[in-house]
Amino acid sequence: MWTLGIESTAHTLSFGLIDPDGKPFPSSTSTIRPEKGGIHPREAADHHKAAAADLLKAALSSQSLNANDIGAIAYSQGPGLGPCLRVGASIARGLAAKFDVPMIGVNHCVAHIEIGRQQCGCDDPVLLYVSGGNTQVIARLEGKYRVLGETLDIGIGNMLDKFARAQGIPFPGGPVIEKLAAKWQDENPDANMNGLELPYAVRGMDLAFSGVLTAALRLVENGKPLEAVCWSLQEHVFSACVEVAERALAHTGKTELLLGGGVACNNRLRTMCELMCEERQAKSYAPPRMYCIDNGTMIGLLGWLELQSGRVTEFDNSAIDQYLRTDQTPIIWA
Ligand code: ATP
Ligand code: FE2
Repeated sequence: MWTLGIESTAHTLSFGLIDPDGKPFPSSTSTIRPEKGGIHPREAADHHKAAAADLLKAALSSQSLNANDIGAIAYSQGPGLGPCLRVGASIARGLAAKFDVPMIGVNHCVAHIEIGRQQCGCDDPVLLYVSGGNTQVIARLEGKYRVLGETLDIGIGNMLDKFARAQGIPFPGGPVIEKLAAKWQDENPDANMNGLELPYAVRGMDLAFSGVLTAALRLVENGKPLEAVCWSLQEHVFSACVEVAERALAHTGKTELLLGGGVACNNRLRTMCELMCEERQAKSYAPPRMYCIDNGTMIGLLGWLELQSGRVTEFDNSAIDQYLRTDQTPIIWA
């Protein structure tokens, strides 16, 4: 029997499928792209409701399956935006009841880790989890994924999206910033930071991004070219993340680094991680981009893993938890 994974934590509704042996298949996904402003939780939830039926059909037909082939329903139980999480959980309850199959509520952050381990074939990595809402450096220790360092204010992706939005670039801003920064680097092979300095907010193992956002906005207001500021912004904030990741490798003695979350799509960040790892005889891994951004497949995979270990979520325990933390979920499957 197949496992269906449902992702709905924020801007994206996505259904993904895992075959009976635990093999993942690409998701069917729809992302809300507001014409102006950020993601409004209520509007995102409405988007998810409207998109759900067609997306589910598309996911099933992508593998020529019908309802009878589904043996379990996995869904994101948290963390995320309440109204969005509730849509996913409601779909999960409805399908589990209709198909008479178990459901498994999973931790969205842990799902980003497990799809990366599965795709990259790494064993016991330090994880650099960089997404819209989250920025964490994580390592497995005594049965849990422990957060060794994290952002003290906003997530790195939200910071990039906010900077982009102020320049009239719609959500998601990260990929556009990447292109503008690469253009600046291509056209200015000797580019340097003169006049483009930004705060570098590493505090021990923790990070912060709201100060750098304000300073970058000010550079643009003061007439610096947008491409140049995008380049400087990426160099500063990615260096900060890589520095904390390197310290985590040093402290834990681990030799693998794994990237996860939407910002891990970024080529510059991937290169910086590879360079850092080469210098310390470690190896850097990054999953395919479709499994870095939010996707139903990663939720299905973690559900499948937990189900193999005998965990299911009873109806009474299926409520969402907006504030679920990475280190609250016991690793029962590895
Ligand atoms: P989480 O709930 O795990 O915090 P999320 O809801 O933010 O996840 P993701 O799909 O993991 O969703 O990440 C989306 C973020 O990734 C957005 O902020 C987007 O700008 C950023 N992003 C996507 N591609 C790139 C890229 N190439 N460079 C930089 N940032 C990127
Ligand atoms: Fe995510």
